This record gives sequence, C-alpha cells and structure tokens, in this order.
Amino acid sequence: MLSLSYRLTLHIFALLQLSEALRIPRATPAQTAATTAVSVSLGGVTYVNQGLVGFGRIPSNFTESTGDTLGGIGSAIAIKYGSWQERANGSFTGTLVVQPDRGFNVITTIDYQARRHELQFVLSPYYNSTPLTFAAAQTTFQLTYQNTTLEFERNDTKTSGLDATAIRAAMAGAGTNPLADPQMPIASTAEPHLSVDAEGLIANADGTYWTSDEYGPYIYLFTGDGHLIQTIQPPAAILPFDSNGNLNFTAEVDPATGRAANQGIEGLTIDPATSTLYAILQSATIQDGALQYTRLLAYNVSELATAVPLIGEWIVPLPLSSKGKVEATSEIHFVSPGVFLCLARDGNGHGGSGDNIKYKHADLFSIAGATDIHGTAFDTPETPAAPGGVLSPDIIPATYVSFVDYADDTQLARFGLHNGDPDDNTLVDAKWESLALAPVGDSAPDDFFLFTASDNDFLSTQGVSLGVPFDAGEDVDNQFLVFRVTLPGAAVGVQTALGLM
Ligand SMILES: *[C@@H]1O[C@H](CO)[C@@H](O)[C@H](O)[C@H]1NC(C)=O
Ligand SMILES: *[C@@H]1O[C@H](CO)[C@@H](O)[C@H](O)[C@H]1NC(C)=O
Ligand SMILES: *[C@@H]1O[C@H](CO)[C@@H](O)[C@H](O)[C@H]1NC(C)=O
Ligand SMILES: *[C@@H]1O[C@H](CO)[C@@H](O)[C@H](O)[C@H]1NC(C)=O
Ligand SMILES: *[C@@H]1O[C@H](CO)[C@@H](O)[C@H](O)[C@H]1NC(C)=O
Ligand SMILES: *[C@@H]1O[C@H](CO)[C@@H](O)[C@H](O)[C@H]1NC(C)=O
Repeated sequence: MLSLSYRLTLHIFALLQLSEALRIPRATPAQTAATTAVSVSLGGVTYVNQGLVGFGRIPSNFTESTGDTLGGIGSAIAIKYGSWQERANGSFTGTLVVQPDRGFNVITTIDYQARRHELQFVLSPYYNSTPLTFAAAQTTFQLTYQNTTLEFERNDTKTSGLDATAIRAAMAGAGTNPLADPQMPIASTAEPHLSVDAEGLIANADGTYWTSDEYGPYIYLFTGDGHLIQTIQPPAAILPFDSNGNLNFTAEVDPATGRAANQGIEGLTIDPATSTLYAILQSATIQDGALQYTRLLAYNVSELATAVPLIGEWIVPLPLSSKGKVEATSEIHFVSPGVFLCLARDGNGHGGSGDNIKYKHADLFSIAGATDIHGTAFDTPETPAAPGGVLSPDIIPATYVSFVDYADDTQLARFGLHNGDPDDNTLVDAKWESLALAPVGDSAPDDFFLFTASDNDFLSTQGVSLGVPFDAGEDVDNQFLVFRVTLPGAAVGVQTALGLM
C-alpha cells in the first residue's frame, strides 16, 4: 500500500515538473544547457535544475602518496574554505577535500587507516547542447591530486577499517584529550584501534573537519592534521543493540535495534551561519522497518563539548523503488533553513549490480512542517517511530520532492556518457555518495554549481591496497559530475561555508 501511494506521489511530482518546466521563462543564452531545465516547487519556492555543465574523471589505478590506490574518494567531498575562485576567463578553481571509506574491502574488511585527500580543480562550465566526446568532456572539470592526510585517534593510534567486533569502554576526558569518549567501536581487544568507515565530511573554516561513520554510527571531529578531537554518539534509538540489549558495532550482521549493518550515518552537512550540524542515517533503523523512514539529526556545535546538544530530529521519507526497495540516501547538503539536498539512489551503473540506472537523484526535502521528535520516547529503541515500516500517526515526516536526475539521457549525451548497456567507463557509475555547492557568481545570485562524485569501491585491475597489488577484475574510474541549479535562499549558507561573505 505504502509503496503504491509513494509511486503515485512520484508520478504526480513528475507531472508537476513537466507543467512547471513549460511555464518557467526560457533560460538566458549563457545557460543554454537549460534546454531540459526541470523545476520543482517545495514550500512555495521554485528550484530549477539547469542541467549538466561539467564532467571529471580520475582513472581507477591512480596511486596516492602512501602508495595505495586513491580509490573510492567520492564517499564524501567538500570544497576547502577560502579556496573557491572565479577566474576572469570564465573558469572556476579551488581545492576539493575528498574522503574514501574503508579501503578495498570487497573480499573482507582491511586495516585501512582513514584519510582524506586534497585535489585542485579547474571547472570550465560547458553550456552548449552540441555533444562533446568523452575525452573532450573531461576538460570541463579537471582534477589534480595534491596530498593525503592520515587519521589518528587517541594517543596517536592509527584508525582502522577492520570490522568493529569489539568495544572500548567509555573514558573520561583527560590531559591532551579533554573531551570524554563514549563506548568506541574497535577492531579487536588485541588491536584496540578505532574502526572507522568514513562517509560524510564537513570542512570547517578553521581547518578542522567533521566526519561521519557507519560503525558507531558516530560523528567525529578531527584537527586539520588528522587527530581526533571529539565524538558525537547519537540517541539510543539509532545505536546498534543486540537482542540482549548490548551494543555491538559489527557491520557483518544486523543488530536487534538501531542502524542496520552498513547503513550508518552516510550524510553530514552544516548550517554554517548557526553552527547546526545535520546528520542523516542511510535508511530507517531496524525497529522503524529498515526501509524508507530514515532519521535526520541536528546538533548545536557552536561550542565543543563532551555532549553537544541534540536540538532536532525528524523523519525523512526516502523514495521506494517499483519493487518496494528503499532508494537509500548517500549524502545530504544544507540549502537554507529547513531545506536540504538529498542524494538517493539505486545500486545500478558502472561497478554496480546492473547497468540500467532507475533512480539516482539529488532530491530536495523540507522539514518546515515536520514533527521534531528529539528528546521523545522515539529516541529509545523500545518505541519505534515506524513500527513494521508504518509511520506513527503522531509524526509528520519531511516533505520530499524529486529534483536532479543523474541518468538524464540528453544531459549525459552532451558529455559522452550514457545509462544502460554497454558496461564501460562511459556508463555512469553506480555509487554516487557526495555533494558540494559553490556560487555561479554575481550574474545569477541564486544559481549554484552542484558537485557530486562517485565511490568506485577501489575497483581496479591494477590496484594497491596496504602496499600489496590486487586485481579487482574490473576498472571503475572515479567520476565527477557538476550540475548548475537554481536554489533560492542558499546564498548565505554557501558563501559562509566557502569564506566568501
Ligand atoms: C594506469 O593505467 C594506464 C592505462 O593502462 C597506464 O597508462 C598508467 O601507467 C597506469 N597508472 C598507474 C599508476 O599504474
Ligand atoms: C582559465 O584560467 C585558469 C586559471 O588560471 C586555468 O587553469 C584554466 O585552464 C583557464 N581556462 C580556460 C578555459 O582557458
Ligand atoms: C595539501 O595541499 C594543499 C594545497 O596545495 C596545501 O594547502 C596543504 O597544506 C597540503 N597539506 C599537506 C598535509 O601537505
Ligand atoms: C592513552 O594512553 C594513556 C597513558 O598510557 C592511557 O592511560 C589511556 O588509556 C590511553 N587511551 C586510550 C584511548 O587508549
Ligand atoms: C558482535 O557480534 C559479532 C557477530 O555476532 C560477534 O562476533 C562479536 O563478538 C560481537 N561483539 C561484541 C562486542 O559482543
Ligand atoms: C547553540 O548554543 C549556543 C551556546 O552554546 C547558543 O548561543 C545558541 O543559541 C544555540 N543555538 C541553537 C540553534 O540552539
């Protein structure tokens, strides 16, 4: 029933988009990519997808400074504070901070130290409708690897990507680590290294950065040189408890309540004007049916503290496929107070489970009319918000609308890309997991470049993992797409985040 009504809603959105697209004024000549502009309405505001303007690629066998394959860097991206620059020749330059998850773990989890990389980029937006070749398309968004920063937890101990089979007891803050740690997911008691499967990333103005993780699922703050400062532990309803009521952070089996295995905090974003950190769970908790009713959390991070206050929590209804499977979220991005972009997708595409992408979108949702459930019984494992996958009648969820389609055939053809057969490097990748925004400039103050990158799971026939060569049997490049979108109200957040105010 639910899936049917949801599909119906999507059809209505599609019709709305069509009728709105016919009504919006024709784009100015500088924006002719807008021949297939799609507009949607949310909370009385019209948002427009002007189309694809850039494509970039890093070959699957690219090696970073530690000797490892660069790998799945699209798990999270952020534009470094102060780096964004508009050039006189119409190009834009900056530094992209990118973060892989837990290394080449297709066969088993490995002792991969968490890290982030910096890439320089030049964006030369392409607005013409004449199709570029795949080779020429890559000149629209060019990336140059700079360096890698490895991550350490307490006592300068390396983090690990190994499955978190053990737990380190909570510790009071002391000495150089003044902020207390909750119970921490570690690889084993013999190897007490914090296990991190990094997914979200926020690059702060002072060089520190927030990252979110799948195991805890926790949120961590690191110094610019990669040392753990503080840990945020979400409410008990989200933590993985076994049937005896004990925490168990393994990603191998589902817990009895809390986040499902490998469905941790995928999305992380900040409202920089109010220092509100937002985190989203990839899909619903086990007690909420492990389907579409996922949770968005808000923390006030204006001051570092052992327990930063949870100040909001809402249910976000993710799309369902025609088979009733959730199109889980891989990232969110703050747009304006109450409004967010949400990357929701299937697993099809290059390096994925099938060739034919059915749903890969940067959508929009608003929490303006949604019920704030933080601090209520829904924060406990005993009181599901959506028992058996049916939302409690006491909760109004966020309003969710379909927006930017990554698999639009017309747009892809302009960049030598495609959806469906053949399964080669011009097929759009399967796993897109990151979003970043930057302003187009004074000529269009509500227009932004929307950057997104794929996680290639380190799939390379010429890979190196922890110094050891491997052949994953397949080459999947890191792909980057850049869309131009009209997002009224987004200027304050974007400019504050990039240091342009
Ligand atoms: C990656 O593969 C290409 C094409 O096979 C090759 O030219 C290049 O040298 C390789 N790079 C690395 C770092 O192995
Ligand atoms: C514009 O200038 C930037 C920075 O100097 C340069 O990297 C880029 O290649 C130039 N773009 C074009 C289209 O010439
Ligand atoms: C990485 O490169 C950037 C840009 O060149 C530079 O600002 C930064 O200091 C470098 N970081 C490290 C750890 O070398
Ligand atoms: C760090 O080292 C100190 C001193 O040896 C020890 O007391 C503390 O337990 C260690 N912390 C962690 C998280 O291992
Ligand atoms: C968590 O569960 C896994 C799989 O059932 C088990 O191997 C592991 O020992 C458990 N860990 C803890 C801390 O109970
Ligand atoms: C966040 O906390 C600061 C004090 O630490 C307070 O001044 C501010 O009003 C709080 N913001 C929100 C949105 O709760």
